Amino acid sequence: MKVVVFHGSPRKGNTYIATRLFMDGLSQCGEVSYSEFFLPEAIPEFCMGCQLCLSNSHEKCPHSSYIEPIFQEIMDADALVFTTPHYGACSMTGGMKNLLDHLDFLTLTVAPRKEIFNKKAFVLSTGTGSTAAIKPIKKYLKNWGINRVSSIGIRMFIDKWNSMPIRKRRKQEKRLCHAARKFFFMKKKIPYISSIFMYHINRFI
Ligand SMILES: Cc1cc2nc3c(=O)[nH]c(=O)nc-3n(C[C@H](O)[C@H](O)[C@H](O)COP(=O)(O)O)c2cc1C
Repeated sequence: MKVVVFHGSPRKGNTYIATRLFMDGLSQCGEVSYSEFFLPEAIPEFCMGCQLCLSNSHEKCPHSSYIEPIFQEIMDADALVFTTPHYGACSMTGGMKNLLDHLDFLTLTVAPRKEIFNKKAFVLSTGTGSTAAIKPIKKYLKNWGINRVSSIGIRMFIDKWNSMPIRKRRKQEKRLCHAARKFFFMKKKIPYISSIFMYHINRFI
């Protein structure tokens, strides 16, 4: 299985530790190869809203030197993993939001891509008390036409992974391993109704 991982946290902290545990869990299930992108380094420029990727082609993006390698990796992958800590009211980190802004041309309303319909995705989030960052990312991915999106939210109630009481940490490690196993063996299913609906509506538009 070829997996692309987008690390949304600007530091190698809780979300990074949880992501590694998830990736280890995947690798225990079978052969897995990874390509990893660390945000915001992978796209240090903000989307400029020029809409060239929507009206013309993603190759016209002023930041195509960053976007094209990411786009190619996504197209070649079997599965995508998006990870972010929970930040404030709007939830995901700025780096993750900037990635999704730059990739908005993948939305079904812009141009449906067969390759995307065969992919599965996983969203992982850590937060002191909240994991609300998962929902908006899931929505993006469903709008791309991703076949299945699953997720795990880790509420830590503490700021450092290794400061969690040992029992709680073991429990989170088990959850991550279990989620990885379920994701690895997750088979392709009938697309989400919302994706089918968006696809057929936009065929006419
Ligand atoms: C700028 C900022 C805003 C945050 N806002 C929230 C929040 O609204 N709710 C919450 O539960 N945790 C919040 N947190 C805590 C982080 O989500 C939590 O510590 C997370 O595990 C950090 O992940 P990291 O170590 O991968 O960076 C915030 C942290 C930062 C740095």
